[in-house]
Amino acid sequence: MTATPAPADRYCVFGNPIAHSKSPDIHAAYAAQTGHAVQYEKRLAPVDGFAAAVHAFIAEGGKGANVTVPFKLEAVKVANALTIRAQAAGAVNTLHFTEDGIIGDNTDGAGLVADIVGNAGMQIGGRRVLLLGAGGAARGVVLPILEHRPAQLVIANRTVATAQALADQFAALGGDGVVSACGYLEIDGAFDLVINATAASLTAELPPVPATVFAPGALALDMMYGKEPTVFLQFAASHGAAVRDGLGMLVEQAAEAFAVWRGVHPDTAPVLQSLRAQL
Ligand code: ATR
Repeated sequence: MTATPAPADRYCVFGNPIAHSKSPDIHAAYAAQTGHAVQYEKRLAPVDGFAAAVHAFIAEGGKGANVTVPFKLEAVKVANALTIRAQAAGAVNTLHFTEDGIIGDNTDGAGLVADIVGNAGMQIGGRRVLLLGAGGAARGVVLPILEHRPAQLVIANRTVATAQALADQFAALGGDGVVSACGYLEIDGAFDLVINATAASLTAELPPVPATVFAPGALALDMMYGKEPTVFLQFAASHGAAVRDGLGMLVEQAAEAFAVWRGVHPDTAPVLQSLRAQL
């Protein structure tokens, strides 16, 4: 007689739209690799019905969920408690349904840093970092970057006041003069790591940064990904920088979420390689 396998624990990703999401494929690969009985699906939540969709999934026995556009801010309100990194990001991309209630977490920033340090092999400690953008995507990565103690973190944005507010929020954490803000044309000096967290790549636009921002040996990273390099990555490459798109960040944030839910951190390399081949 064969034992009946335990029913799979259920997870999903909420978004609107959601059809394009690669998260089910990524989590299926992590489940297979770790031998965890996990079922992970896409869920289209109505734009005005996110909270109801979350509670319906919990009622069906869901154990956790990822949250993507446009619900990352609403997910903060759905959670009963937030992790420090979710509080710092002001947004939630990972919900964990526990006996103590709904825990809101954010693995985006940790995913980005894991990709930079683990996959690209660049240490952030002691380096000069330039962050382009001051919206939700930028906000989520400030704490994880500062945890690696860069020599400098400059946040540049089209709307300087938003960048300044973000810099002010994290100034004490960064230490004396480490975190500052400015407009694109006031960016001073060259940087070892330049991260594009603006939405400009979506419309094939380039944040107007001086070509001199790339220090020798610099790494330029765009949070967007696609078959072709973004205009920002093309610009960075033409000025001598090594380039990296956001696919590694996607795979790493998923691995962090898997670790939150399952207590084991999967090996991301084969998953990143296979997603890259499918682009
Ligand atoms: P997200 O959650 O993706 O960060 P967001 O909160 O709307 O989205 O933030 C978008 C970011 O991209 C902002 O920093 C925005 O700059 P402003 O604050 O000045 O609006 C930036 N952005 C969008 N389009 C841009 C463009 N064409 N050039 C430069 N920055 C752009």
